[in-house]
Amino acid sequence: MTGYKDVIGHAEPDYSVEQRELIARLERDLKVQLAHKQHRLAHSLSVASCAEGLALLYGVDPYKARLAGILHDWEKALSGEKIVSRARELGIDMGVDLELVAPLLHGIVAARDLPNSYPEVPPEVWNAVKVHTTAAPQMSPLDMVLFVADGIEPLRPKTPGIEASRALVGSTTLADLFWESFVGGIIYVLKGSRYLWPGTIDTYNRLAAAREGAGAR
Ligand SMILES: [Fe+2]
Ligand SMILES: [Fe+2]
Repeated sequence: MTGYKDVIGHAEPDYSVEQRELIARLERDLKVQLAHKQHRLAHSLSVASCAEGLALLYGVDPYKARLAGILHDWEKALSGEKIVSRARELGIDMGVDLELVAPLLHGIVAARDLPNSYPEVPPEVWNAVKVHTTAAPQMSPLDMVLFVADGIEPLRPKTPGIEASRALVGSTTLADLFWESFVGGIIYVLKGSRYLWPGTIDTYNRLAAAREGAGAR
């Protein structure tokens, strides 16, 4: 496996019977959860496959990556209004009015609500789901795989930014690939004149400092 095409066309790993069963159950449940959002459903399954392939390429657990992809947009079934009210019920504190950050909440809410329904899903998967919209100053390889797969899965349009990230797959490190995706996401927010959550600026500064410290720049 050397690049994006291989990641997209990879063969499924040799999972155990239990692993296959959980994947099938989560996919079935997701189809019910997102029955009214077919585009989102197709995106989620595409992210799951892309994350599995990226995990295989970069030496990350493909099973956890697949589960994270299936689950990451689960709460997108809710309207913006409902996700904000659920986040308020859970006491989620983003330091700003939650209505300003409604598009960021679905991963955080899913990571709080879904472990009760699926206790057999490993905790690292929930963390990847939690940080897939915001990123975080400390990103595990699994967190990075989900974040990148969400941005470059094959159903996403061929914009110059996405194509540039796809071209980097296999020719750069996972950390650099994540950085491209993360910075590209911030640029997208800025160019669209959208609200930029202050926590993202803080994460950017902390990740940039860590990269500088590691000699990446
Ligand atoms: Fe998402
Ligand atoms: Fe997504």
